[in-house]
Amino acid sequence: MATEFKPIMLGIVCNWCCYGGADLAGVSRFQYPPYIRLIRVMCSGRVDMSFIIRAFQNGTDGVFVGGCHLGDCHYVTQGNHDAINMVEMTKKILANIGVNPARLRLEWVSAGEGIRFASIMNEFAEQITKLGPLGKSEGIENSLLQLKLEAVNRLIPYLRVVQNERLQVRKSTEEEYKEYYASEECNRLFRELIADKITLSEIIQLLREKAFSPGDLASNLNLNLSEISRHLISSANHGLIRYDAGQKRYAIAQSNYR
Ligand code: FES
Repeated sequence: MATEFKPIMLGIVCNWCCYGGADLAGVSRFQYPPYIRLIRVMCSGRVDMSFIIRAFQNGTDGVFVGGCHLGDCHYVTQGNHDAINMVEMTKKILANIGVNPARLRLEWVSAGEGIRFASIMNEFAEQITKLGPLGKSEGIENSLLQLKLEAVNRLIPYLRVVQNERLQVRKSTEEEYKEYYASEECNRLFRELIADKITLSEIIQLLREKAFSPGDLASNLNLNLSEISRHLISSANHGLIRYDAGQKRYAIAQSNYR
């Protein structure tokens, strides 16, 4: 008899509102799946992209981020605006590497909204259960998925700078944020500043294991040969990788081997 898939789920919630909502759900006996593990942080603005990527690397099937409603954050910096920027950017990155962005969800829940907290958790758990294990519904083998997640993980210091300098926006409503992150302007910035860097990071990540021919790199990363060649030539020019003409393979430059 097939056993029902029980997802691994993580919630990272702010102390002042969403955790209060979770607490109220508990004392009010509003049921939600016990396999959703909660981690409390002081503000949703404290949640870094690295927390989410690391959770997926560790096999989490769905990640929830919960904070105070916009305008209600308990800190003068209004950290929930940082949280929405970070989550929207992370969703774009997940989509870029082939992971369903619906596996990451951000919601605002006040300390008095215990029933809302429970209902969001139930709905999210049902959605993730339907999606199945991370990578399965996406059709990505685990080894490739891990490689892609690690490639993003290594890029996070760069991504933080890009987001702070070029992509961080301040809007009034959630709809305005969603509109901006779906806009052509944002997609163009993403393509110019991030998409190529992710591909390059994936190539470097694969070359950390061993030397590859361009054709093998392309088939391992499900990319076309011309795209791979463009990255290889540019990276070799920058001294990140080297070409072994005898073996007809690219390898990582020793200075870049970490
Ligand atoms: Fe709750 Fe900032 S304190 S989001």
